[in-house]
Amino acid sequence: MRMLITGGAGFVGSAFARNAVTGHEVWVLDALTYAGNLANLESLQDSPRFRFFRCDIRDAALVERVLREFSPEVIVNFAAESHVDRSLNDATPFVGTNVLGTQSLLDAVRRAAPGIRFVQISTDEVYGSTTSERPASEDSPLCPSSPYAASKAAADLLALAAHRTFGLDVRITRCTNNYGPYQFPEKVVPLFITNLMETKAVPLYGDGLHTRDWIHCDDHSRGVLAVIERGRPGRIYNLGAQSPLTNLELTKRILHLVGGDEKLVRHVSDRPGHDRAYYLDCSRARLELGWAAGIPLKDGLRNTVEWYRQNRSWWEDIKKGTYLEYYSRQYGNSGNHA
Ligand code: NAD
Ligand code: TYD
Repeated sequence: MRMLITGGAGFVGSAFARNAVTGHEVWVLDALTYAGNLANLESLQDSPRFRFFRCDIRDAALVERVLREFSPEVIVNFAAESHVDRSLNDATPFVGTNVLGTQSLLDAVRRAAPGIRFVQISTDEVYGSTTSERPASEDSPLCPSSPYAASKAAADLLALAAHRTFGLDVRITRCTNNYGPYQFPEKVVPLFITNLMETKAVPLYGDGLHTRDWIHCDDHSRGVLAVIERGRPGRIYNLGAQSPLTNLELTKRILHLVGGDEKLVRHVSDRPGHDRAYYLDCSRARLELGWAAGIPLKDGLRNTVEWYRQNRSWWEDIKKGTYLEYYSRQYGNSGNHA
């Protein structure tokens, strides 16, 4: 199949591109914001099945040209502003890319390639906080807490409207928290791994008892491939690892794997509007797609720590750049992040 992957130079999009290129022709389209990095796609550079275009998804004319030239069978939209904390500081770029950008892509597809499959990569955060007794199913109400989650929920609704009104073949995935190689070191897993490797403090928000269901980005990628191959138009699919744990427990595991000192864990003020837990009911993906996550957190986390050990220059360069500047602006001299 020919697949156009937007946001494919980011963390999850590049994992998906690496997985997809083994059996498909892959064109990546990415604006290369602070989170986009061509180094994430290095292993694909020599593949005759791979091409990269620098392009903002809001540039509908350029997106249309790429659609006409490549004539893909599938477009997978990973492009997004993706960090909750940044959205609390300034929601405008989130509305710009996640909401307006998704609508612009839908419009371009409607004009230039109305028959293709449009996979919108969404998140479990659109449901807001949930409990183990009542995990969110695809029919649960949307109740986003952060501007990030609200912008993703808005994009889901726009994509579903394009399916209902214009007949586009839209499919939506809502996945839990991803971890793995090439994740930008502002997200908790790579932030904690790399800070501990540098003997720096790790800031645990609130009491640390917030629960997330961590899934390896390769499992997520295989779930998206299953949706492309076996999913149905207009359908939403929850994707999760079904192995939730608290941030405190996650921190302990990372400490153990990196070999850091427990004294480096700092309890800092909680994130405003911090969702207590995300639990998903993923039975639809299991029953309809035959998909389930396969990488145990124990193995995935060990390999991820090893990757950050082996790829120091990748994250050291990033931490020297925009990231440190951003955190010093947000946290001043608290020393929590640097
Ligand atoms: P990321 O921030 O690492 O990557 C986002 C990518 O999108 C970057 O390469 C960036 O350059 C690109 N981008 C941003 N704005 C763009 C624009 N206007 N036009 C073109 N490209 C643009 O994010 P990620 O963690 O890889 O997440 C990818 C997608 O997966 C997002 O839609 C996110 O909501 C979703 N998701 C992520 C997770 C997770 O835990 N990381 C979980 C569930 C869903
Ligand atoms: P994060 O990686 O930002 O992903 P998301 O907000 O999309 O779930 O955060 C994951 C969890 O880790 C979340 O409960 C917030 C918490 N967290 C910390 O405790 N400290 C940190 O420095 C960060 C970035 C997150």
